[in-house]
Amino acid sequence: MPAHTFLPASAPLTGRIAVPGDKSISHRALMFAGLTVGRSTIAGLLEGEDVLATAAAMRAFGARVERLEDGAWVVDGAGLGSLLEPAQALDMGNSGTSTRLLMGLVASHGITATFTGDASLSRRPMERVITPLARMGAAINASPGGTLPLMMRGALPAVPITYRLPVASAQVKSAVLLAGLNTPGITRVIEPVPTRDHTERMLEGFGARLEIGEEGGEKVIDIHGEADLTPLDVTVPGDPSSAAFFMVAASIVPGSDLVIENVGMNPTRAGLVEALRQMGAEITEENPREVGGEPVADLRVRHAHLKGAEIDPALGPAMIDEFPAFFVAAAMAEGTTTTSGLEELRVKESDRLAAMAAALTLAGARAEEHEDGLVIHGSGGEPLPGTPEGAEVATHLDHRIAMSMAVAGLASRSGVAIDDTGPIATSFPGFASLLEEAAAQPQSSPGRKSEIPG
Ligand code: S3P
Repeated sequence: MPAHTFLPASAPLTGRIAVPGDKSISHRALMFAGLTVGRSTIAGLLEGEDVLATAAAMRAFGARVERLEDGAWVVDGAGLGSLLEPAQALDMGNSGTSTRLLMGLVASHGITATFTGDASLSRRPMERVITPLARMGAAINASPGGTLPLMMRGALPAVPITYRLPVASAQVKSAVLLAGLNTPGITRVIEPVPTRDHTERMLEGFGARLEIGEEGGEKVIDIHGEADLTPLDVTVPGDPSSAAFFMVAASIVPGSDLVIENVGMNPTRAGLVEALRQMGAEITEENPREVGGEPVADLRVRHAHLKGAEIDPALGPAMIDEFPAFFVAAAMAEGTTTTSGLEELRVKESDRLAAMAAALTLAGARAEEHEDGLVIHGSGGEPLPGTPEGAEVATHLDHRIAMSMAVAGLASRSGVAIDDTGPIATSFPGFASLLEEAAAQPQSSPGRKSEIPG
C-alpha cells in the first residue's frame, strides 16, 4: 500500500505529453485477436494490470500472447469455438471489463471457467451479465449477491437472444455480443442509451458480421454467429480517460499550456471535453485523424477560469469514468456545479460518489453527496487547503480516485496525501512521474512523501 503526498505544482503544466493506450480498446484487441486463427499484432497496447489480466486469461483459453522487444504485442489466436478450458481459476484482479467481457466469451463455448478478483471487484455486481448469458444457456454459479468468485459453464450451442439493456453499460452490451459471436443465428442487443462503441467498431475490423440500426430512437445491434474472425493489425489510440487527469490539471493550474498527444476522441468517450468547455475550459483539438478505426486528436489545454455548471445527465455515459477528475475541476470553479443521474458511479471500482465526496471534503473542498450525483461549491480558483497533517484520502482500491486526488494536490496549498497509489498501475503505469514531470514538482519532500509509484 504505497501512500504518497502529491504536492502543489511548482510550475504550470507545459510542453507535450502522451498518455498510454486506451484500456477499453486494449482489452478488446487482445480478446478478438485471440478468437481468430492466425497472427494479429497490437501496437500501443496499454500495459496496465487490468489489460495484463485479460492477456493472461486469453493465454489460459489457448491463445499465444507475447510482447516483442519493440513494445508491440503479437497474438496467435486460439480460434472462435476452440477455446480451451482454463486449468485454473482466472484471476481478474481489479478489472470489471475483463470479467464481464470474458464471461460473454465463455457463455457460448462448451467449457467451464472460474473467475476471481480483488476485494473491489468481488463487491461489484455481475447479475447484469449473468441474466442475459443465462438466457443464452450458460449455467452460472455466483457468490451471494451475484458477485465473484463465480463459476460458469458455457452452452454449446448457445441460444441467440434479443436483449434490451436495462442499464447503460458497454460491458453488458459487449458480453452479449461476444457470446453471440459463437452462437448460431442472430443475437440482438438494443441500446436505449448509447455507450462506448469500441466493440462494434473493432469486431467489424476483425471481420464479424454486424448490422447496426435504429428503432424508435434506440440503437439496435445484430451480430451473426457463428462468426469467422480474421487476424488484424491494431493500433491502440491514447486513452481519453487517462488524458482526463491532465486535461483537468492543465485547466486548473495557472499558466498551464499543455498538449496531450494522440487522444481518442470517439464521441461515445469525449463527454469530459464538452463538460469542461461548458465550464469555460480552453481545449482545442489539433491534427484530428483516425487511428485504428477511432477518431484521435492532439488536445491543447490552457489554464482557464472555470465557472460552475449544471451537467446534463445525458452526457453521463460519454464521460462515465471521468467524473472523479471532473469533480476536481468543479471544486476549483467559481460557483456551483451540479451532477445527477450518476447512480452507476456507485458500482465502479469504488462507490465514486461517496469516495470523491469524502476525498474532496478532506482536501478542504465543499462537496455535497446526493443519491445520484455530487453538488460541488467551487473555490473560485483559490487553491484547496489540502489534506490535514496525518490524514490521507481513502482510495478504496480505485485508480481513478487516486489519480483525481493527485491532480487536486497540484492545486492545493499543502498537498494531498493518498493512502494507496498501488491501484494506479491498473490503468496508468507511469502516471505519477508524468504528472510530476509535467508540473515540475520537486521529487521529494522529507516527511511528506514516500516513493513515487510506477
Ligand atoms: C467499459 C465500460 C464502462 C466503463 C469501464 C470500461 C468498457 O463500464 O466504466 O471502465 O470497456 O466497456 P460499464 O459498462 O459498467 O458502464
